[in-house]
Amino acid sequence: MKVQEIAKNIYSVGVSDWNVRNFHGYLTQRGSSYNAYLIIDEKIALIDTVKAPFTEELLERVSTIVPLEKIDYVVSNHVEMDHSGAMPKVMKRCSNAIVLTSQSGEKEHKLHFDTSAWKFQVVKTGETISLGKHTLSFLMTPMVHWPDNMVTYCPEEKILFSNDAFGQHYACSEYFDDELPLDVILWEAKKYYANIVMPYSSQVGLALEAASKLDIRMIAPSHGLIWRSHIDQILASYADWSKSKAEKKAIIVYDSMYGSTEKIAYAIRNAFEDKGYVYKFFDLKSNHHSDVITECLDAEYICVGSPTLNKNILPSVAAMMTYIQGLITKGKKGVLFGSYGWAPQNIKIMQRFFDESSINLVASYNFNFIPQPADLEFVTKDLEDRI
Ligand code: FEO
Repeated sequence: MKVQEIAKNIYSVGVSDWNVRNFHGYLTQRGSSYNAYLIIDEKIALIDTVKAPFTEELLERVSTIVPLEKIDYVVSNHVEMDHSGAMPKVMKRCSNAIVLTSQSGEKEHKLHFDTSAWKFQVVKTGETISLGKHTLSFLMTPMVHWPDNMVTYCPEEKILFSNDAFGQHYACSEYFDDELPLDVILWEAKKYYANIVMPYSSQVGLALEAASKLDIRMIAPSHGLIWRSHIDQILASYADWSKSKAEKKAIIVYDSMYGSTEKIAYAIRNAFEDKGYVYKFFDLKSNHHSDVITECLDAEYICVGSPTLNKNILPSVAAMMTYIQGLITKGKKGVLFGSYGWAPQNIKIMQRFFDESSINLVASYNFNFIPQPADLEFVTKDLEDRI
């Protein structure tokens, strides 16, 4: 079993999850990985673990380098089960290890597992632990992506073990960001940010500010590839995303029963096209909400359409709206559209989701049964006047 040395006496010992396609509602087309790292020194530290089904694979990898009972510390940067599911077995087999974690991390571990036999040492920002030639320095990053999150920095090697931050759901046999096409890695990092981190953008800003004081030559996240050649690009992308920086870009997303809502979607498309916007066009029959939200991350406008169905909206659009409501918290402009037979509730229902996300409604268009050519011309012209 291959174990990759990423710096002298620092190993990547995590696993790839090639076949995962649903990560709590997020379509992970390229699978994922749960990265863990091992530092060999006078004291030995394992940084993060893996999802429970991959426990034996992790332990087998670690065992190729060092007997498990020789591990002194298990650093738990984050308790979410993709990084801590293996903890019960890891702590049993690494019988001499102390868990280094945040205050919330200790509490969350106790809520997840029987920790009665575990030894905890709570760490805070600025605290350090010497392993010998290597030091572990801790920085709390709450809400990136749970209250317990922290990152661990090794100043001698200038490696930031960033856990969820800067991650990508990407299963691959490569380890580093210069071994695969950068546009694909950045796309997966963007999708990860939009689907996991976006609601906590203000906390990301604070974490970036703290991280900017560190001299970093490698960012080793707990998902996907390690950043060693494109650190500036990923840091700049995170800075833009955390500030909700919008491009001149519109998202048009809808589902349609008999084509009326779709006709309005095209009329809206025409307005943005005429105004020189980049636009992305999604029929929810063919597109997944997690791909749509990725494009929303840097968009100025989000336009959503549904007909009325049974005094409500189409289930696909309701799922999209729920996702938007959970992830988008500020800074977007919105357009709503659709058609109805005898109950024009669709717009009102969709507007509630926009209001919850503080999306500023710029225009709405709703037509009885089938919009006529004059109606569609009106939509395009009216919207052009408003954007
Ligand atoms: Fe990769 Fe928030 O866990």
